[in-house]
Amino acid sequence: MHCRRVVVREFATRSNESLHSLCLDTFPLNEPIVDIDRFIRGDSGRLPAYEAVPSVDELALRYGIATSDLVRLDSNENPYGPSAAVREAMLCVAAERYPDSQSLRLRAALAEYSGVPDDQIVAGNGADEIIDLLFRVLLDPGDEVAICPPTFSVYRTTALLNRGRVVEMRRDSRYAVDVDAVKNSVGPRTKLIVVCSPNNPTGNVTERSDIVRLLNLGVPLLLDEAYVEFSSGSAVDLVGTYPNLVIVRTMSKWSALAGLRLGYGIMTEVLARRLLAIKPAFNVNAAAEAAALASLADIESVLVNVERLREGRACLQRDLAACPFLEIFPTSANFVYCQVRGATAQWVGEELMRRGIAIRVFADPAALRITVGTREQNERLMEALGEIGCGIPDLSDINAT
Ligand SMILES: Cc1ncc(COP(=O)(O)O)c(C=O)c1O
Repeated sequence: MHCRRVVVREFATRSNESLHSLCLDTFPLNEPIVDIDRFIRGDSGRLPAYEAVPSVDELALRYGIATSDLVRLDSNENPYGPSAAVREAMLCVAAERYPDSQSLRLRAALAEYSGVPDDQIVAGNGADEIIDLLFRVLLDPGDEVAICPPTFSVYRTTALLNRGRVVEMRRDSRYAVDVDAVKNSVGPRTKLIVVCSPNNPTGNVTERSDIVRLLNLGVPLLLDEAYVEFSSGSAVDLVGTYPNLVIVRTMSKWSALAGLRLGYGIMTEVLARRLLAIKPAFNVNAAAEAAALASLADIESVLVNVERLREGRACLQRDLAACPFLEIFPTSANFVYCQVRGATAQWVGEELMRRGIAIRVFADPAALRITVGTREQNERLMEALGEIGCGIPDLSDINAT
């Protein structure tokens, strides 16, 4: 039987001679000296893990499909890719240097793009980081965060991770925020209301009048505008009037920089200063900063692709609406949400996957979220759904009703 003695001696001679007295002959290797579990945060086992979609390699392996044959319509990415200017900018990134910890040039460019002063912008390693920073700054343990499911799961995970309490007010049958329910839920410990508009995964926007009603509750409102470029209006002009409004946005979707991680928040200067004070020093890396600057400088060509996706969305909505087993919901994002009838969403998702097409599946209610792809990708999806429809046993019953 091996013992730890040799390992401990090596360590001891380099650090603290007195450790020589520790003789561990009696400890077999498979018995840990320290019970590391004892040191891990008590609630960590109960915290929900964010379930990211599987990687391309994982999917290819699991379904025996070449990576080049996979169509990914599951992550709301932009299939047209970033501006050519981004690729050029990447070649000039000074990888050996730390980036600007204040992201000054980038914040100025984002401020100009958003129509607000520079000091109201906080840039981050994806919108996810801005959400986390905001929760860290606002929440004391046990404070409440009001969210409106079905919605982006990161709000819940991040609130719990920051020792907040999540209060959920379900959206109505058309997925509108129930403003009265949110209003009734507000109490002395409510620190934040979160609304995603256009909402992920349902795609609908929250009316401006509802946003104003929520703001008038006097509690901080996180308005997630990750998909705003695909919709027809932002609430950014309200930031000047309502210091409790925080808008979070991302360059992942409209400008196709998901892999580089660049998000930003727009908020009152006082709050921005607090987020900037606690953020990791170099949270925006040099490549992400260069890419975002290049994208914003070449905005016309980026917006051409946004427009192509809007057109593709209209065609996809029309085509999906013709599928008898799908009920389509109006969308202002780069994805379409559909409820499934006559089959489980899981089954439809699996059948699509077997044909090399990845989409996002929800169990309750049975629903699919399908990202708008290129014209070819959308056509492949429709062809596959046509085949799958033939396999839904009670489709004729659905048609009859
Ligand atoms: C609503 C919403 N907010 C935020 C994010 C996170 O964006 P980022 O890629 O910038 O972290 C996403 C990503 O899917 C999203 O759907």
